[in-house]
Amino acid sequence: MIKIVEVGPRDGLQNEKRILSTEDKFAFINKLVDAGLKTVEVTSFVKPPAIPQMSDSSELFQKVSAHLKDKANFPCLVPNVKGYETAKSIGVKEIALFSATSNSFTQKNINASVDESFMRMKEVADLAKKDGIKMRGYISTAFGCPYEGVMGVDKLIDVARRFLDLGVYEISVGDTIGVATPRQVSSYLKDLISEVGASRLAMHFHDTRGMALSNILVSLEQNISVFDSSAGGIGGCPYAKGATGNVATEDVWYLLQSQGLKTGIDFEKLVEASTFILGKLEKTTESKFLRAYLNTGRI
Ligand code: HMG
Ligand code: MG
Repeated sequence: MIKIVEVGPRDGLQNEKRILSTEDKFAFINKLVDAGLKTVEVTSFVKPPAIPQMSDSSELFQKVSAHLKDKANFPCLVPNVKGYETAKSIGVKEIALFSATSNSFTQKNINASVDESFMRMKEVADLAKKDGIKMRGYISTAFGCPYEGVMGVDKLIDVARRFLDLGVYEISVGDTIGVATPRQVSSYLKDLISEVGASRLAMHFHDTRGMALSNILVSLEQNISVFDSSAGGIGGCPYAKGATGNVATEDVWYLLQSQGLKTGIDFEKLVEASTFILGKLEKTTESKFLRAYLNTGRI
C-alpha cells in the first residue's frame, strides 16, 4: 500500500490569487476525504500578508475538525511559535515544519537563513513534543533552487539529519521548482537512504517540467512508499517564480495502479474533488491523465 499525502488544500491553493471561501475549501477537503484520502494537509498558520489565501486557517481547521475529525489525519504547516500556538489552541494534532537546503530560498520564503529556521523550528518542536503533537518535516529545494541552481546531495543529507534531530516522524523531500530528473533523484536517494533509511522519507514532486511521474517511479524502485500530491495538480510556491503545481493525485493514482500498487483512493470521487476545486478556481487541469479522462470518460 502506498500512502498519498494530499496537499491540494495547502500547497495547491496557497499560490492562487483568487481567494476562495472557507466553505469552498471545506467542501474540497470533504470530497477528498470521501475519496479515501487518509492524510489531507488542510492549511498553514503563516503570516497572512505572506500568503493571503491561508488567512482563514483557524476557521477552516475548526470546521474540518468539527465535521471530519476521525476520518483522516489533517496536518497543518507551521513556520514559528506564533503559528504553532494558534494551531495548538484550536486542536491541530499534527504539524508540518519546513526549511530548505538553500539559504537564498529560506530567506525569501520565511525571512531566515537555514540555520535560523532550525533555531525557530527547535522552539516549536520542543513545545510540540511536550504537547504530544506529531511533526513532519519538509525540505524545499532538495534538488534545485530558483536562486542558487542545482543543490548538492550533501546539503540534503545535512538538513534531513537536522530534521530527524528535531523529532519529525517523516521527512518530505521537496522538488520545489520541478527541476529534478530521474537520474538525479535516483542518485540522491541512494545516498540519503543510506543515511536515514527509506521508511522515514516521502517525496514531494512539483511537475513543472513533466518529470514528476518518472521521478516517482525511480523513488518506488528505492522503496519509497509515501508521496505528496495535489488533486488536479493545482499548486505552486509563491517564492519560486514559475513553479507550477504538485504532481496531480490522479497522475500518481494512474501510475501506481498500473504498477499493481494500491492507494485506497476511489478514483471517481477524487475526480469529483478535483473538478470541484478547478471549477472554483476557474482553471483547467495541468494533468494530462485527468484531461484525457475528462475528455474521453475512460481511464
Ligand atoms: P517575519 O515578517 O520575519 O515575521 O515573517 P516576524 O516574526 O518579524 O513578524 C512580523 C509580523 O508577522 C508580526 O505582526 C507577527 O505577529 C506576524 P505585527 O506585529 O507586524 O502585526 N506573524 C504571524 N502572524 C500570523 N501567523 C504567524 C506569524 N508569524 C509572524 N505564524 C514568517 C516570517 C515565517 C512568519 C513569514 O515569512 C511567513 O509566514 N512565511 C510563510 C511563507 C509560506 O507559507 N510559504 C509557502 C509554504 S513552503 C512551500 O510551499 C514548500 C513546500 O510545499 C515544499 C516544497 O514544495 O518545496 C512545503
Ligand atoms: Mg510544495
